Amino acid sequence: MEERIYVPSHVAIVMDGNGRWASKRYMPRIAGHKQGVDTLGRIVSACPSRGISVLTVFAFSSENWNRPVEEVSGLMDIVVLALSREVPKLQREGVRLRFVGARDNLSVRIRTGLEEAEFATVTNSVLTLNVCFNYGGRWDITSAAARLAAAGTPITEHSLSAAMAMGHCADPDLLIRTGNEKRLSNFLLWQAAYSELYFSELLWPDFDEQALDAALLEYATRERRFGKTSDQLVVPANLHA
Ligand code: IPE
Ligand code: IPE
Ligand code: MG
Repeated sequence: MEERIYVPSHVAIVMDGNGRWASKRYMPRIAGHKQGVDTLGRIVSACPSRGISVLTVFAFSSENWNRPVEEVSGLMDIVVLALSREVPKLQREGVRLRFVGARDNLSVRIRTGLEEAEFATVTNSVLTLNVCFNYGGRWDITSAAARLAAAGTPITEHSLSAAMAMGHCADPDLLIRTGNEKRLSNFLLWQAAYSELYFSELLWPDFDEQALDAALLEYATRERRFGKTSDQLVVPANLHA
């Protein structure tokens, strides 16, 4: 039989551990976030050659507003800086950028930056990079349900999925969390229902191509049963159609 490696087409990552990475070096937490942007750039570049077509990353949660004001404003500055620096590279690599999350409570400066970056990359199709920013799974579920209710649309699994912030892509096959924490922290609560979970001890700035490959290798060994028994699986379900 032909040997095949089962590749997740959609990978989601909780990029955690930036603060600890910086503290270990006696640097301000913000230095860790800056390093985290570089790591993201490297991981984005690595995705297409691995057969990944959608990468979704958690960059700023609904709850991260509760951090000290200097850290929040530093993170906002990093976003603006990262966009101006990284968008030309994303263009060269054919990456379509999409921001996923609430926009209404963002400053005009940030909102304009996100919109411009999305517009600039709208025709790219090598990889979709969803950046969950000002995002929370509970926000996602409740705001989609409220919109459907207001429009008088019956709420079904299908209509709710389509109305949610990630309605433009299939659910993640593999969900990675770095930073040695084993929780979702309000990330993709609905969409991760059947994602394979992988936890890395590495702090996000230390995560690299080799670490990604280790996660992909582990994914290839998983049996995705979606509620069925092993015997019922004709084609291994981690071969995403
Ligand atoms: C993740 O790194 C990035 C954001 C939440 C913005 P952290 O800042 O949570 O890093 P740790 O967990 O404190 O090390
Ligand atoms: C989750 O990390 C959010 C992001 C990575 C953006 P946190 O560091 O905020 O999560 P908790 O607070 O440890 O659960
Ligand atoms: Mg953290």
